[in-house]
Amino acid sequence: MKRLLALAAAAFISLPLTPAIAQEAQPGAPGAGDPYFPDQGNGGYDAGHYDLTLDYDPGPDRLAGVARISARATQALSRFDLDLVSTLSVRSVTLDGRPATFSQSGSELVITPPSTLPAGRGFSVLVQYDGKPEHVVDPDGSVDGWIRTNDGVFNANEPQGAMTWYPGNHHMTDKATYRFTVTVPRSRVAVANGDLVSKVTKGERTTYVWNSREPMASYLATVSIGKFQLTDTRVGGYHVITAVDSKLADSATNFAERHAPVLDYFSSLFGPYPFSSTGGIADDAPEVGYALESQSRPVYPHVPSESLLAHELAHQWFGDSVTPTLWRDIWLNEGFATYAQWLWADKQGTRTVQSSFDAAYARAADDEFWQTPPADPGGPANLFHDPVYDRGAMTLHALRSTVGDESFFKILRTWASEHKYGNADTAAFIALSERVSGKQLDALFDAWLFKPGKPSL
Ligand code: TRP
Ligand code: ZN
Repeated sequence: MKRLLALAAAAFISLPLTPAIAQEAQPGAPGAGDPYFPDQGNGGYDAGHYDLTLDYDPGPDRLAGVARISARATQALSRFDLDLVSTLSVRSVTLDGRPATFSQSGSELVITPPSTLPAGRGFSVLVQYDGKPEHVVDPDGSVDGWIRTNDGVFNANEPQGAMTWYPGNHHMTDKATYRFTVTVPRSRVAVANGDLVSKVTKGERTTYVWNSREPMASYLATVSIGKFQLTDTRVGGYHVITAVDSKLADSATNFAERHAPVLDYFSSLFGPYPFSSTGGIADDAPEVGYALESQSRPVYPHVPSESLLAHELAHQWFGDSVTPTLWRDIWLNEGFATYAQWLWADKQGTRTVQSSFDAAYARAADDEFWQTPPADPGGPANLFHDPVYDRGAMTLHALRSTVGDESFFKILRTWASEHKYGNADTAAFIALSERVSGKQLDALFDAWLFKPGKPSL
């Protein structure tokens, strides 16, 4: 039906005085088409900005939110979805100020605008919701999303936690800018991505406003809450904002200062640091078991080691600024961040990159490890498994050994600059590597990224 209409429209194009035939409005797809998480993201529109107003009280554990999302229709829309878990109740939805019909089913909030939206139309959707937020459990068994701690929330959203606390287009291909207005009891601090705009206490409650001006994927957003010591300083030319759980204060005295040397080194290798501010959130949440490279402000479940700090800061270039197109391409994040850990250890004199490679490569050929090719990890349960990290990093080292240092670092810098604030996939990385080096690299990438088995050297 859609195709026939398009053909009819094309046939009329050369005829003057023919009224334009409007594209027939259709529902937007309920997913973005990622086989690892089919319901994640949505079709038919492109989100540009999220203005989130959140009120959270850890006592009753209740979140009340107002999300104002500016978006543009990419097709004529009769209705469209946002991703939000149905344990949070939606109270009202308006579209450009007019009431819209809505329903919640699974993790889809289905919205029917008062009148259909033509392709190309910009619109603003406002969602009021509340409830007791609950984290999700990922296919690999880890927790993800709005994760309660003893004093607040550890908020890490890769790969699917964003839907546990705000409605949106939660596939990583739809990046947007953000503003967060978060009200918490005055004994708590709310930390989000980007720059702190204001902090105002009225009576027993404090409101923090954060502005994140560079485009960001949903899984990199964070609003973490706790009894934090917040610092906002300039160190070595960087705007560094850190939040440290008061329980960790003694072991984190130089947390802010530790960022500049790592960022300086990575900037010299990868190009300029891509965000207006940096820093991190060191929470006391050992039960979480992982850190996350939240944009401009990673979250750590403890005070990070040098190596972990380097890993999450390297993600700011590889993962956050340049983001994969599908979850299957996750090695573009984890392999690169792991390689950057090796580089930082080498720079610090702890261990040479070659020795890190050798240790990883020393796994026996019949080790399970070699059965998962990093660019095709097989499913969402394997996203954060060792082959994605270590064999991903080994792939980069094998590339470096083949093309030489000059080409290798030029490839990394070009990758960061050409796809700044965008998305890119493995095929684009291979094409870039061949373009910069002038070498045919199919055999190398086939062996390291796509074929099971231990590649030979
Ligand atoms: N991307 C995180 C890192 O920097 C790791 C991560 C995110 C993770 N979500 C996870 C690990 C879930 C295990 C389970 O390494
Ligand atoms: Zn990582």
